[in-house]
Amino acid sequence: MFFAFTEEQLMIQQAARDFATSELKPGVIERDEQQKFPHEQIKKLGELGFLGMMVDPKYNGSGLDTISYVLAIEELSKVDASAAVAVSVNNSLVCYGLEKYGSEFQKEKYLKPLAAGEKLGAFCLSEPEAGSDATSQQTSAIDMGDYYLLNGTKNWITNGVNASTYLVIAQSNPAQRHKGINALILEKGMQGFTIGPKENKLGIRGSDTHSLMFTDVKVPKENRIGEEGFGFSFAMQTLDGGRIGIASQALGIASGAYELALQYSKERKAFGKPISGHQAIQFKLADMATEIEAARMLCLKAAWLKDQGLPYAQASAMAKLYASEVAMRTTIEAVQIHGGYGFVKEFHVERLMRDAKITQIYEGTSEIQRIVIAREILK
Ligand code: CAA
Repeated sequence: MFFAFTEEQLMIQQAARDFATSELKPGVIERDEQQKFPHEQIKKLGELGFLGMMVDPKYNGSGLDTISYVLAIEELSKVDASAAVAVSVNNSLVCYGLEKYGSEFQKEKYLKPLAAGEKLGAFCLSEPEAGSDATSQQTSAIDMGDYYLLNGTKNWITNGVNASTYLVIAQSNPAQRHKGINALILEKGMQGFTIGPKENKLGIRGSDTHSLMFTDVKVPKENRIGEEGFGFSFAMQTLDGGRIGIASQALGIASGAYELALQYSKERKAFGKPISGHQAIQFKLADMATEIEAARMLCLKAAWLKDQGLPYAQASAMAKLYASEVAMRTTIEAVQIHGGYGFVKEFHVERLMRDAKITQIYEGTSEIQRIVIAREILK
């Protein structure tokens, strides 16, 4: 056991913290209110190498480990969970999937600009009738010889309108159930590919969540990831890593709210002393700090296993399950510690509370994480 970070990991953490404070914080309330995507900030994060953090430098990535990624996502999410999810999806669902399973042609054409931050990616699995039950894909990709004919609808797609490259999961052979599913790379602008309006959401309102519609889209065969029928396995394995990203986002939302509550508790006076002098507040702060530390350990353990090339499906599901529940509990308590001020936008904690909720839903609900964990421990 060795609990210290390397100098490089600390440097990445500091760089993400500095960026969050100087670039994300200034407009975050306005972006949340107006549902504005952080265009400029995502562009800068790309230039700094945060969009292809774990990708090999030969494909324009930063060549960092997953622990650095956890540290960076936590720091960004403390301040702006909407920006953080755009970064997380691009890194762990799109770049990782392409680097690990894509062909050399796909890496040259699609991974390189994504890792360089010149383009943004989206991962498209959920459907109106297939959210948790991911094997029940209705989007069809019919084999037409040298292309697939794609028809269907995808829901809740992060980076929906700002992405240029979309990894789309679709059914090519329903008789074979999940073994008939393919993962295809789509480009924005392909004929028959349209994007629905932005969802008006409770939280992560700066993130662009959209439905995607496909009507007779011709996707070249060379855009299929892996062998015929590999798509479901591709989605599941990619999501194992994606859950480390969302767990880190939840961790950041929790620690961001905790830091604000801690600071406020030292400044706000009631009954003749700072409220941090009252046990009612101290007990809350102690519980928050303990749970956040436990969530952080789960995130780092999952990241470490991934970096070692060891199985991490169970660890990433545990990290996501626990960190997302901690995010919800901590943000509610942070609002409570702020009292009336916690209920107004200027103090940031109400936004973090709204943002926390999605971490219990996307990349697999808490119930799905429990299914994944239970299956692993009962194997
Ligand atoms: N790695 C590799 N293979 C896996 C796997 C994994 N982690 N999990 C399952 N598989 C394989 C199984 O081994 C099985 O293959 P075989 O038949 O060859 O053995 C196959 O996949 C089917 O598995 P199951 O029988 O377990 O499938 P299931 O239908 O019972 O359910 C599930 C599996 C875990 C519930 C899965 O459907 C799931 O994870 N659902 C949630 C989907 C999800 O997370 N959606 C989020 C959308 S993405 C998103 O939110 C992105 C965003 O924009 C933020």
